[in-house]
Amino acid sequence: MARILIVDDDFAICRTLQLHLSGLGQSVEIAHSVDEGLQKSQQFHPDLIVLDIRMPGKSGLEGLPEFKSSLPGVRVIVITAFHDMESTIEAMQQGADDYIHKPIDIDEFDAAIEKILQKGEGELVDTASESLSSLSMVGHSRAMKEIFKTIGLVAMSPATVLITGESGTGKELVARAIHRSGNNPDGPFVVVNCAAIVETLLESDMFGHEKGAFTGAVAKQVGKFTLAENGTIFLDEIGELSPIMQAKLLRVIQHKEFTPLGAKEALRSNARIIAATNVNLSEEVGRGKFREDLFYRLQVVNIHLPPLRERKEDIMGLVQALLGRINNELNRKVTHITTESLNCLQAYDWPGNVRELENALMKAVAMCSTDSLSIDQFPAEISGINVGGQREPFHASGATSLQAMEKAHIKHVLDLVDWHRGRACEILEISRPRLRRMMLQYDLSPPPGVAAEKESDD
Ligand SMILES: Nc1ncnc2c1ncn2[C@@H]1O[C@H](COP(=O)(O)OP(=O)(O)OP(=O)(O)O)[C@@H](O)[C@H]1O
Ligand SMILES: [Mg+2]
Repeated sequence: MARILIVDDDFAICRTLQLHLSGLGQSVEIAHSVDEGLQKSQQFHPDLIVLDIRMPGKSGLEGLPEFKSSLPGVRVIVITAFHDMESTIEAMQQGADDYIHKPIDIDEFDAAIEKILQKGEGELVDTASESLSSLSMVGHSRAMKEIFKTIGLVAMSPATVLITGESGTGKELVARAIHRSGNNPDGPFVVVNCAAIVETLLESDMFGHEKGAFTGAVAKQVGKFTLAENGTIFLDEIGELSPIMQAKLLRVIQHKEFTPLGAKEALRSNARIIAATNVNLSEEVGRGKFREDLFYRLQVVNIHLPPLRERKEDIMGLVQALLGRINNELNRKVTHITTESLNCLQAYDWPGNVRELENALMKAVAMCSTDSLSIDQFPAEISGINVGGQREPFHASGATSLQAMEKAHIKHVLDLVDWHRGRACEILEISRPRLRRMMLQYDLSPPPGVAAEKESDD
């Protein structure tokens, strides 16, 4: 039996979790604010705290370090309505052991508790309150949420990270997110493309050269390992490295030093190394093409990005985010997209992953003369997809505007939280007055029965 303290300003959540956990034989206390939680902890000495983020007074993120310092060894699971990468990363960096989204899925909750209570002492994550990434990645799929967690866990450590995944899945974006969430986010982030150049040039690109080191070396050049001093070096397409370069890279990783071409003295490097590849490196190791010792050095941490076709639930969010980005870039205001187009975007397999989606949207916006994307603006391989076995005829009434999606999404969220507006606002990350205006605008009202009770909560 464990002692579990639940800290949440929402009485209903506290009671539900308390009943559930006591039913499992745990000893449970509840508190409705950080301060009350700290006070109760003095008597109760919890092993585990289940901590909400948004609360009146101190937020859970502010309270987290206080709990950790007053209760050494305590485990913390953060529950929050935020879905974005930044808050996941921040919670993990502040020392949370795990992270659960509202509305709470009780199986996920049980699994998280079980996992944490089994962990031994002394495995706590480093706490830090570094400023956070502004580089946003979109993703609501389970796989992407796990990736955001991992980014938060590894960002502050110097461990080498190997990012794998098909072309266009976001490997470089993950590398940048790790850098931006790390110790020195304003330090250099230097990219080396290991596939692009011939060997001598690659070597001098990475390590630099002295004047006259080889034909054409008319002046001394500083290498990227030097440029990445106090920052991150991102070795893209690492699978393409020649055996000689593999040996040289191993030396940098093992001994933190390298020698520019034609130089007598070795230089030191403190750059954090992140590598990426879209080939299966362990197969390359098996075929004798890639050094096994280097492979293990590189993948101290492995982050694998699944292809977009295996996380289709991310497509909608990506379409919205990418359209926003593209409108900005092209100075356009394309705000609508037909249902037919959306269905095709959902149904298509995206062999080129997020990059292909971004390119398709970019071309469609460029070709589109109105504020609405229709199926004709997408290439044949996408538009030709038979959705549900038959191609729907295009007609204007089938168009879904982003506004209609917005309305449907707001209604969906309100239903999820039983029309509890405060919680809906947290999930939607909007203010209460704004939600009220949108409910009026979209003519959304609670179903009979829910109405009277929830009316009073704003
Ligand atoms: N989860 C995401 N959210 C928002 N944008 C994304 C996401 N994943 C990828 N992108 C965008 O898709 C494009 C491709 O991403 P990126 O360059 O990181 O892929 P990659 O895996 O490095 O591809 P390649 O193997 O072709 O180099 C970029 O414009 C990136 O901003
Ligand atoms: Mg890339």
